[in-house]
Amino acid sequence: MDISVLPSPKKVYIETWGCQMNVADSEQMLGLLQAQNYSQTATPEDADLVLLNTCHIREKATHKVLSRLGRLREISLEHNPRMKIAVAGCVAQAEGKKLMEKASNIDILLGPGKISELPGLLATHALDGKRAMSLGFESTARKHDDHELPSTRTDIEMPIVPNPTVTMKEEVTRFINIAQGCDNFCTFCVVPFTRGREISRPLESIVSEVKALVAGGAKEITLCGQNVNSYGDDLVRDGKHVAPPEGPFFELLDRAAQLPGIERLRFTTSNPHDFTRPLAELFRKHASLGRYIHLPVQAGNDEVLERMKRKVTVAEYMERVKWLRDIDPEMAISTDLIVGFPGETEEQFQGTLDLVEAVQYSFIYAFKYSPRKGTAAARFRDQVPEDVMSERLHRLQALSNSLTTQQNLAEIGRRRQVLCHYESRKEAGVFYGRTQQFRLVMIRSERNIVGKMVEVDIVEANKTALVGVLV
Ligand code: 5AD
Ligand code: SF4
Repeated sequence: MDISVLPSPKKVYIETWGCQMNVADSEQMLGLLQAQNYSQTATPEDADLVLLNTCHIREKATHKVLSRLGRLREISLEHNPRMKIAVAGCVAQAEGKKLMEKASNIDILLGPGKISELPGLLATHALDGKRAMSLGFESTARKHDDHELPSTRTDIEMPIVPNPTVTMKEEVTRFINIAQGCDNFCTFCVVPFTRGREISRPLESIVSEVKALVAGGAKEITLCGQNVNSYGDDLVRDGKHVAPPEGPFFELLDRAAQLPGIERLRFTTSNPHDFTRPLAELFRKHASLGRYIHLPVQAGNDEVLERMKRKVTVAEYMERVKWLRDIDPEMAISTDLIVGFPGETEEQFQGTLDLVEAVQYSFIYAFKYSPRKGTAAARFRDQVPEDVMSERLHRLQALSNSLTTQQNLAEIGRRRQVLCHYESRKEAGVFYGRTQQFRLVMIRSERNIVGKMVEVDIVEANKTALVGVLV
C-alpha cells in the first residue's frame, strides 16, 4: 500500500460487552479501523476514537451505556477533548433514538448489521462534523410477515465483512461470526429484534478465514452465531448452497475441524433443538473439537420450555447429552439457565435443579429472567417477584458451584492436554490455558508456552481453576 495515501495515525479504544458475537464484531471493527491507520490503545484517555460495543440481552443495558457515556464525557473534558465516540452493538440498534437524545457526546451510532459502514460513517463525520448513524438489518429476501420485526433496509450488500488479520490481546484464540441474527424467537429473547433474522456467510469465505487466522498464528477458533446449528439453512433455502444431508453446519464443522494447524475448534451457541446426532458424532471424528460443548437448556421443566418456545423437552435434551456422553463419558457440558421465567412455580424450578444435578454441568451461566420490550414473554402474566428470583438464583448457583468444585477436585492426579492461551500480566512465568474439557489451568513455566499444546499433571484445584505441572 502507498503509505502517502494512508490517513494520519490514530488510536482507538474498544470496550466489548456481551456475547462472543460481539467479540468477533469488535475484531472486525478493529480490522476495518486498522486499515484506516488506527492502532489500539488500552485507555480512553489517549484515544481519538472510543468504541463501545454494547449488549442488550438483559435489563439496564441502556442505563449502563448512558452512565458509561457520562464518564467518558468527564474523561474527554479533563484529558482528551479530541475524543470521538461511537456506540455499536445491540443497544445502539434497539435504543438508538433514546441514546442519541440522552447523550449528546455520541458521534457515531452503528447497529450490529452495519459494521462494514464504520469507516464510511467516520469519514462523513470528519467532513461535516454531524452525528452519523446506520441501523437496521440486511434484507433476507424472505417473508417476515409471520413475526413483528423492526424495519429493514435493503440497499446494503452483505453486512458481514471478513475478519482481516488483526492483532488482539489473545492471538492464540480467535472468534469468527458465521451468521448474523436468529430465526428462533424464544419468547424471552430480544436478539431477533436487535440482530434481525438469520443471515449466513458463505461457507467458503468462512473456511478461508479460518485458514487465514490459523496461518496468522491462531491455534483455537470459535465459530460464533446466535444458533450455529441452523447455519446455512438460509443459503440452502435461497438456492445459494448445496449441503450434504447432515446439513450445512455439519459440513462447515467437518471441514474446518480437519484444517491443518487448527489445534482446537469450538462453536457457540448450539441450540439443543437442532443439535443432531451427526453433529454429536463429529466429536468422535475430530480431536480438534475437544471434549466440551455449551448447550443452553434455559429450564428443566417441559411446560416452562414450551412457554419459552425452546422446541425441546427435557427428555429430548437428555437424549442429546447421552449422545455426547456415549462418545466420551468425560464430555464437559455447560449451559445457560433462566430462573423466574413468568409463571415458573417452585416445583418447576425444582426441575431445573434436578436437571443440573442429572447432567452434572461443568459450568452454568444462570440469569434472573428480565422482561425485554417487544418480546412475547414480557406480556405474559404471573411475572415472578424479584425476591423469589434472587432466592432461586442463589440456590441454583450454590448447587452449580458445588458441582464445578467437585469436578475440578476430581481432576487432581489426571494428566491433561492444555492449550496455553496467555501469560499472566501480573506475574511473569505464570501461564493460563484450557484443557480439552475447557477447564482453566494455571501453569508455571520458565519457557514461553503461549500458543503451545502442553501436557500437564493436575496437582491442585479449586472452584475456578486447576494447577498443572508440565510433564
Ligand atoms: N432474561 C434473562 N436471561 C436472558 N437471556 C436471554 N434473554 C434473557 C432474558 N430476557 C439469557 C439466556 C441466553 C443467554 C445468552 O442470556 O440464558 O441463553
Ligand atoms: Fe435468542 Fe432463542 Fe435465538 Fe438464542 S435461539 S438468540 S435465545 S431467540
